[in-house]
Amino acid sequence: PDRKFFVGGNWKMNGDKKSIDEIVAFLSKGPISANVEVVVAPPYCYLQYSREKLPSNIQVAAQNCYKEKEGAFTGEISPYMIKDVGGTWVITGHSERRHVIGETDEFIAQKTKFALEAGLGVIPCVGEKLEEREANQTLDVINRQMKALADKITDWSRVVIAYEPVWAIGTGKTASPEQAQEVHEKIREWLRKTVSADVADRTRIIYGGSVKGSNAAELAKKPDIDGFLVGGASLKPEFLEIVNAQG
Ligand code: G3H
Repeated sequence: PDRKFFVGGNWKMNGDKKSIDEIVAFLSKGPISANVEVVVAPPYCYLQYSREKLPSNIQVAAQNCYKEKEGAFTGEISPYMIKDVGGTWVITGHSERRHVIGETDEFIAQKTKFALEAGLGVIPCVGEKLEEREANQTLDVINRQMKALADKITDWSRVVIAYEPVWAIGTGKTASPEQAQEVHEKIREWLRKTVSADVADRTRIIYGGSVKGSNAAELAKKPDIDGFLVGGASLKPEFLEIVNAQG
């Protein structure tokens, strides 16, 4: 199946104009393979600044959004605002939104649906915590998170699923290529059973959690790993190694 390699850089709550200029400089210099789709996710307040500075082969995502177009929702932003400043993607349900801020499966599914309807591409994130993995609940957790999404998504063509085991995020403890592949394969199987064979074959499933220049190529070799969602390493020139990891 033809799934274009997809690499997202999630800058999280990091940076200022000066450090963004430095990131833009190495991204502009490249090289970036034409066979990869690259998206970076700056903090909201730098979306437009980043869009204006970045080269056109790099797309811009927001790290979150709300589930309404406009109105009395203090502190929230709408997918239409993301589009208005040149963003084309949004991340939903990142583990830090789920576990630090307390977002639920249902809320994440609602914003995913709304952002898709608004015309954005969406990167919903799923993943188990360490205690869930140790209790053999990994697939229960992922299937529950996936079901909430699948109940609301009708068009999967602009959805990229990110599998991010919580224990691997920002810890330096990357999932092994085998551990990641095992879950990616299960997610694809779940899509095949629950949604359709076509959606299972076409939907990109990317891995996140301590991806580095030094481990990206091994992970990228696995048949069901279609790219990465990178945190810490997306702020550094090593991000280019990850972007080009497929060789
Ligand atoms: O969205 C990115 C992930 O949370 C991974 O973060 O690469 O710093 O572990 P990390």
